[in-house]
Amino acid sequence: MVPQMMEANPAEMFAGKMMDTLNGAALAMMTSIGHRTGLFDTMADMLPATSKEIAEAAGLNERYVREWLGAMTTGGIVAYNPEGRRYMLPPEHAAFLTRASAPNNIAASMQFIAVLGAVEDGIVECFRKGGGLPYSAYARFHAVMAEESAQTVGGKLFDFILPLAPDVMRTLEAGGRAADFGCGMGRTLRSLAECYPRCEFTGFDFSPEPIAIAQREANMGGLPNLRFELRDVATMDLDEALDVAFAFDSIHDQAHPQRMLANVYRALKPGGVFLIQEIQGHSHVHDNLNHPLAPFVYTVSCMHCMSVSLSQGGMGLGAAWGEELAMQMLSAAGFTQITRHRAQGDLQSTFFVARKPQ
Ligand SMILES: C[S@@+](CC[C@H](N)C(=O)[O-])C[C@H]1O[C@@H](n2cnc3c(N)ncnc32)[C@H](O)[C@@H]1O
Repeated sequence: MVPQMMEANPAEMFAGKMMDTLNGAALAMMTSIGHRTGLFDTMADMLPATSKEIAEAAGLNERYVREWLGAMTTGGIVAYNPEGRRYMLPPEHAAFLTRASAPNNIAASMQFIAVLGAVEDGIVECFRKGGGLPYSAYARFHAVMAEESAQTVGGKLFDFILPLAPDVMRTLEAGGRAADFGCGMGRTLRSLAECYPRCEFTGFDFSPEPIAIAQREANMGGLPNLRFELRDVATMDLDEALDVAFAFDSIHDQAHPQRMLANVYRALKPGGVFLIQEIQGHSHVHDNLNHPLAPFVYTVSCMHCMSVSLSQGGMGLGAAWGEELAMQMLSAAGFTQITRHRAQGDLQSTFFVARKPQ
């Protein structure tokens, strides 16, 4: 007799999916905590150990660590041997959870869930009344963003991003002028300034907190070719001063992105090059159905990128503005020879090279 196939019950399947989502969301919070407390880094270097040994090694409170280990163990992140009550972080998991695993450290990205959770009340209010929340409403945003971009941009700056425009590398080597529009804490620009000492680099951002940190770190690094300015890139009036412009993850959350693009265009010398990293995806929701990170992108957009733009009376473009609209807006700003690129295995970023005609 042929065994009867179990009929999948759509309601039960959906309930299961939602329960997985609840557990996944809980694990995201605990993974963020594991990153911030250094628990993953500590465990990656330990043999199977008790909660007391792990807490001591990490310099943390045992009771909290034990509860965290409960979530990690039942969530399939940490392995557990009831005999001796020993926990272990398998190396295959450590490869995505520790600082040493960067640029593949997914635990660092989990911090966004906690950052966004902290502003839920304000966002709910925006759903009712419109408007948005300013950057200053997001505790730790700039620090988390800097960690994120160290992976998404820093991790492929010299191997992938710059080689997209070999003439840019030659210009930077020879000693041109370059600027980063919406530079945040400026770590990408610092790597560039270290690598190309003959080139002058300027970082612009209108948020005082990251600019102060960027300038302090540049001073400590003793880099005379690097400086940072507190500037609104939508209102700046730099004229044909730059050979190269960069924008890393900083166009879509502008209040007035088309104005910013016009100002980047104006700031470049004829023949200048604009190198961009933006969020990967298409401009229409139906084209993003198979994007493995689409729910995350729309969520970050709704709870941060779109909201910070709307808080300034901006257009609220959002992180899911998509490659098609990005190409259109670059073209409307006057850029030509616009090309888009994705790095193999990278689900998060799309890179663009755009040129100002000679
Ligand atoms: C998503 S963060 C990216 C920061 C940085 N590029 C990175 O990759 O870590 C966007 C940045 O753009 C800055 N920004 C947004 N609108 C701006 C404007 N009109 N002028 C200058 N900076 C702006 C924000 O303060 C924030 O630091």
